[in-house]
Amino acid sequence: MTSGSLDVLNSLPAIWLLILASLILSVVAVAVSLMRSRKHAPVSPPTDLSETARKLLREFEKNGQSANASMVNWTSGTLKKILTDEMPGAQVIVVSNREPYIHNLDDNDEVELVVPASGLVSALEPITRACGGTWIAYGGGSADRQTVDENDRVAVPPDDPSYTLRRVWLSDEEHQGYYLGFANEGLWPLCHIAFTRPAFRASDWETYEAVNRKFADTVVAEATNDRPIVLVQDYHFALLPRMIRERLPGAIIITFWHIPWPNSEVFSICPWREKILDGLLGSSIIGFHTQFHCNNFIESVDRFLETRIEREDSSISYGGETSLVHAYPISIEWPSALLETMPGVAECRSEIRRKHGLSDEVKLCVGVERLDYTKGIVDRFQAIEELFINHPEWIGRVTFLQIAAPSRGALPAYRQLYEECHSYADELNRRFGRDGYKPVLMVAEHHTQRQVYEIYRAADVCLVTSLHDGMNLVAKEFVAARDDEQGVLLLSTFAGASKELLEALIVNPYDAASTSDSLLQALTMSEQEQSNRMRRMREIVRDNNVYRWAGSMLLDAARLRKRAVPDDASDHDPPVEGNVVRIFDRKGVAAL
Ligand code: F6P
Repeated sequence: MTSGSLDVLNSLPAIWLLILASLILSVVAVAVSLMRSRKHAPVSPPTDLSETARKLLREFEKNGQSANASMVNWTSGTLKKILTDEMPGAQVIVVSNREPYIHNLDDNDEVELVVPASGLVSALEPITRACGGTWIAYGGGSADRQTVDENDRVAVPPDDPSYTLRRVWLSDEEHQGYYLGFANEGLWPLCHIAFTRPAFRASDWETYEAVNRKFADTVVAEATNDRPIVLVQDYHFALLPRMIRERLPGAIIITFWHIPWPNSEVFSICPWREKILDGLLGSSIIGFHTQFHCNNFIESVDRFLETRIEREDSSISYGGETSLVHAYPISIEWPSALLETMPGVAECRSEIRRKHGLSDEVKLCVGVERLDYTKGIVDRFQAIEELFINHPEWIGRVTFLQIAAPSRGALPAYRQLYEECHSYADELNRRFGRDGYKPVLMVAEHHTQRQVYEIYRAADVCLVTSLHDGMNLVAKEFVAARDDEQGVLLLSTFAGASKELLEALIVNPYDAASTSDSLLQALTMSEQEQSNRMRRMREIVRDNNVYRWAGSMLLDAARLRKRAVPDDASDHDPPVEGNVVRIFDRKGVAAL
């Protein structure tokens, strides 16, 4: 304080000093109470996508955030509304390798319907039901051909059809080279840090290219106009976006890569890296689950192609066109239609315990996944072994039910994993089992979604300890299934879901000792703590549901589409700075 200001204070009568001090105190008190009331204000329930919400979305975008603001109640209705309001008359075409409904012949030569174990299918199915349109996929079921019409189409879901499934037929050689070979022996291990060496064969690559072209032909044949919205799914179709772009320049192509994208050093292993990047950059939007994988993709493009990259917008201009690269974390249907028809938790608990001969006192830990080396099943068994060695008091008091849906069994790496998991489970049962008690139940069979939800509802702990996973929807499904707010989730730090479900017990699956410590923490967690954690995770999954995932991409696509018709001023958003919208002001956006 300067001597001048001290003079002023000294000259003030004491009464004025008192008034000044009490004024300052009141201002501070009001500010503190305002801050408190904000902190404790109830979260307003989300509303439908109203004009107000749209304005808010634009505000969010101005600040450089994604369009998927949390104040919108994302439902199938919201999604339909986006389509009818923002893209009237647009035809939606989904393309994936795996079909949502497989028709198989059972042992009695009867046709049975199978919904495959696939995160992609469980996420995309409610979306396609909401949007209608056509889903193009490989028809791999033994009764698939006998259940389609003369155009290879079948209306689904079978009990209440709302969209068309268009099946594409592949020969054994095509399936071998494109799916088993290039996609699953090449790209799958390349993109996952699981230390399985990728195999790249020129013949597989040629087949992959040919099959991508076959799907491009099918997309063009199914398109009812030249500006459809095509949702290309996953690593089976890296070349498809460019192939569609060449044939349907006005299409909006949204490509979603469901698995991680490696860093550029790892990606450089692929002999056809430039072609893969070129193919993907035929997309209007390229989506990943996490920003980390977006960054890896952009870094790979930067390293191997001549492009202009706008890091602020996350956009890449290449060959006169621009693609957006954004993170859209995938999710599940909320509320779950399936859950509405399920018995209560207590009933599920006793049913699963009865089925597996478990007494009421035994804690049940579950793992549910495809039998895949990225899922960390063997590492999980190591953590269980650690638990029994260091805490033998748990022997006889805990059982691990491992559901492993058979997957890609024609590949040696998967057959080897099957053997390894079974022999490890047998060994644990030999060492720690007694009098009919088996610590590990390994069930390598396909389960329906209903059966899986029954298991989630019966579990005390769910282990989602993948070595590397784009998202791992099992974590979100477990949370959705627990409307009783009980149960503990152990979640790998290397699964995309760990970026959202922060109240899970986050583990490093490579570290068996610390995973086993977390397991112990889960087994001994109080009901109150379980409930606190589960409630928060349920809020996250509710707000970030699969309609928000698809809706965010469609909103971004709608803005791209509006930019494509600059003369139609009436249909335009006001020009807004930032994110997607800034790109509208540039020429040559891909897909426009
Ligand atoms: O989540 C990755 C993924 O490859 C999906 O694309 C696929 O649907 C799922 O795993 C199951 O794999 P597959 O279709 O090879 O059985």
